[in-house]
Amino acid sequence: MFLGIDIGTSAVKVICTDGDVIHASATANLTVQSPHPGWSEQDPQAWWSAVRAALNEVAGTVPLSGVTGIGLSGQMHGAVLLDSARDVLRPAILWNDSRSTEDCAHLQAALPEIGTIAGVLPLPGFTAPKLMWVAREEPQVHARIAHILLPKDYIGLRLHGELVTDRSDAAGTLWLDQGAREWSAAVAGASATEMAWLPRLADGHEVASQITAAAAAETGLPAGIPVVAGGGDAATGAVSLGATEAGRGFISLGTSGQLFVAGDAYHPNPAKFVHAFAHTVPERWYQMAAMLNGARPIAWLAGQLQISAGEVVDLAESADPNRVPIFLPYLTGERSPHGDPHIRAGFFGLEDSTDRAALCRAVLEAVAFTFADAVDSFGDTVAGLPHLAAIGGGSKSPFLLQLIANATGQRIGRTVGSDAGPAMGAARLAACGMGAMSLSDLGHQPEIADWFDPTSVPDLDGRLQRYRALYQALKPLR
Ligand code: XUL
Repeated sequence: MFLGIDIGTSAVKVICTDGDVIHASATANLTVQSPHPGWSEQDPQAWWSAVRAALNEVAGTVPLSGVTGIGLSGQMHGAVLLDSARDVLRPAILWNDSRSTEDCAHLQAALPEIGTIAGVLPLPGFTAPKLMWVAREEPQVHARIAHILLPKDYIGLRLHGELVTDRSDAAGTLWLDQGAREWSAAVAGASATEMAWLPRLADGHEVASQITAAAAAETGLPAGIPVVAGGGDAATGAVSLGATEAGRGFISLGTSGQLFVAGDAYHPNPAKFVHAFAHTVPERWYQMAAMLNGARPIAWLAGQLQISAGEVVDLAESADPNRVPIFLPYLTGERSPHGDPHIRAGFFGLEDSTDRAALCRAVLEAVAFTFADAVDSFGDTVAGLPHLAAIGGGSKSPFLLQLIANATGQRIGRTVGSDAGPAMGAARLAACGMGAMSLSDLGHQPEIADWFDPTSVPDLDGRLQRYRALYQALKPLR
């Protein structure tokens, strides 16, 4: 049995699988702290407590003594800062934190070629500008940094005691030279970061180290079993779908949203904030449009209306499609395609008669429109793909997937267990590291259970154009 452990933003998810069927799974919820506007932080200790709770629940179904390998997955870009005793120096600064906006401008000016080295232009979500912010605002913390890890790698440290990351998560720091697949001294030097602080690089299926006696005592996992490096959640989601082979594409509908296409060469395209990153498997790269707001606006509206996300979808389905306002979904600014940390969300076109159902439909339509923008920024790369697979919590809604198919003009396919994505990919990397699967087996695509073919909807294109025009009109007001 293999375990996949995914350190998400809203929950830690653990699955236990033979590489094909899921035999047990558990989630433990997490909260995000925002002590100041634009800040987004989590305590790494909370991830570890959630991992232990989820493992404990899995152990109720499948004995952990039967686990032979573990793979890690996690939210990308977060900065976990450790001192020389490997103790956490401050709360982790997450992927959707926007405090380092001015540092991005400085980094871009200091290293104009950064877009071609790092595969994307500096934005506050990435790790390197967060270090510049810490150097500027918390010099007493910066002076004590001895190690930097990504969120899943902190859990790796707790499990096996080594400082290791994989190349797909390293890719999201800006410190990776994506073409060479090694750390870039030029980017580190321009972003208040010492090369010695960066962890050892591995491919996702390579063994990072083994479960220590201390971790075994805390978790019930057998001491000595191998933990592979794993991947950032975008790359492990890809592994769950066989998107390790060139030309395979998918969308992910989680707290964030992604459009991901795997390739066998490095093709930077920084202009539209499409990220060109190293994949977790050797000799592969990927292009990704990363939308900070993904399916999150649905959960946000559910919270405001004090109903469930499922009820938001049901209400949206019942709305009169001719009386729906336009919603701009940028609750936390947006990365692809705008690279705009300042823009915020809003409804436009409210009428006296606008009801809750219309608001719900506007929000779902906006989620679909963010994917239309993502497809647009890829140009012909996506238009030529036979279909896009769909994973993440939002993929549970057929209505939302149909809206996305209509708005993007792409055929969407949903696999069985599509919401287990990244944890499943991490477990498959463990299976590969243990020799139970080969690297080419990782390209196996799970069967599609449901298809969503684009249909023509009156005035959908007009609404998409109004949605795009609304961003342009509101941009100067941010
Ligand atoms: C990808 C991204 C998010 C996080 C959190 O670039 O920022 O997907 O990994 O899930």
